[in-house]
Amino acid sequence: MTLETKLLGVTLKNPVLMASGTFGFGEEYAGYLDVSRLGGICSKGLTLHPREGNYGPRMWETPAGMLNSVGLQNPGVEHFIRHELPGMRGLGPAIIANLGGGTIEEYVEGARLLNSAGIDILELNISCPNVKEGGANFGLKPAIATQVVSAVRKVFSGPMLVKLSPGAENIVEMAKACRQAGADGLSLINTLLGMAIDVEQRKPVFRNIAAGLSGPAVRPVALRMVYDVVRAVDCPVVGLGGIATWRDAVEFLLAGAAAVQVGTAVFQNPEAPLEIIDGLQRYMERHGFEHISDIRLKK
Ligand SMILES: Cc1cc2nc3c(=O)[nH]c(=O)nc-3n(C[C@H](O)[C@H](O)[C@H](O)COP(=O)(O)O)c2cc1C
Repeated sequence: MTLETKLLGVTLKNPVLMASGTFGFGEEYAGYLDVSRLGGICSKGLTLHPREGNYGPRMWETPAGMLNSVGLQNPGVEHFIRHELPGMRGLGPAIIANLGGGTIEEYVEGARLLNSAGIDILELNISCPNVKEGGANFGLKPAIATQVVSAVRKVFSGPMLVKLSPGAENIVEMAKACRQAGADGLSLINTLLGMAIDVEQRKPVFRNIAAGLSGPAVRPVALRMVYDVVRAVDCPVVGLGGIATWRDAVEFLLAGAAAVQVGTAVFQNPEAPLEIIDGLQRYMERHGFEHISDIRLKK
């Protein structure tokens, strides 16, 4: 029995990856858990140029989840390559660089730099506001998403995941479009749009009004989308959204995910990913599964 698996040709110790934006560049968590046991780490969302992010508040607790409005604060792709990537390499888990952008040109330039940087996988975050189109998210309409994915595909030759937004008009059509435009695999879901109002101050909590909802509250939505996408495309799908326990992870693997990502759960329990890995191992032993892919739902 082995938890080892391959994702887009990259060997992972196990199928448990850390979701972008919830684990920094990995080293930040080294004092809280044995980071070397993880299957992979998705970097904080990178952009070509450094970004300061949004003014606070940036986070707000919700029932079984949280809202965030971090605004893609990050040091930029070049800083990442020079100062964060070497440390990440020393940690052991596979390195997945998450890339966003405000224009197609920005995505392309970022991807070009990452192409020769020695990352294992690129995860293209298409849930970013399109500056030239009045801020509408790139991940809502297949035609716009196709433009970004195919432009990046031309300059990035390594394995590429495209991370889908649950706000897509039709998640299955979006998945098919991204696959056709050159994605080697898909990851989903990013956060759902929500908001909160401070009743004493009588104003919205976040300056941008809307913020990203994550955590267990979104899990049934994420699972349904992963289930549908797995059945519609011919490429590996990485499932995420509200995974906090091994049972949650197994649900996504049963739905057909090739691997899972854990995000918001680490804010409450930094050991959650390791508990998930151990729980997966016991589940496989109990059911006599040899390989992660054996977990899939019975036909
Ligand atoms: C504080 C925070 C920051 C995030 N930043 C990013 C990001 O930079 N890029 C990205 O693709 N997703 C980002 N996400 C989305 C997560 O990677 C994930 O898709 C989402 O939170 C759902 O998974 P979860 O419920 O396990 O957190 C962020 C989420 C949170 C909570």
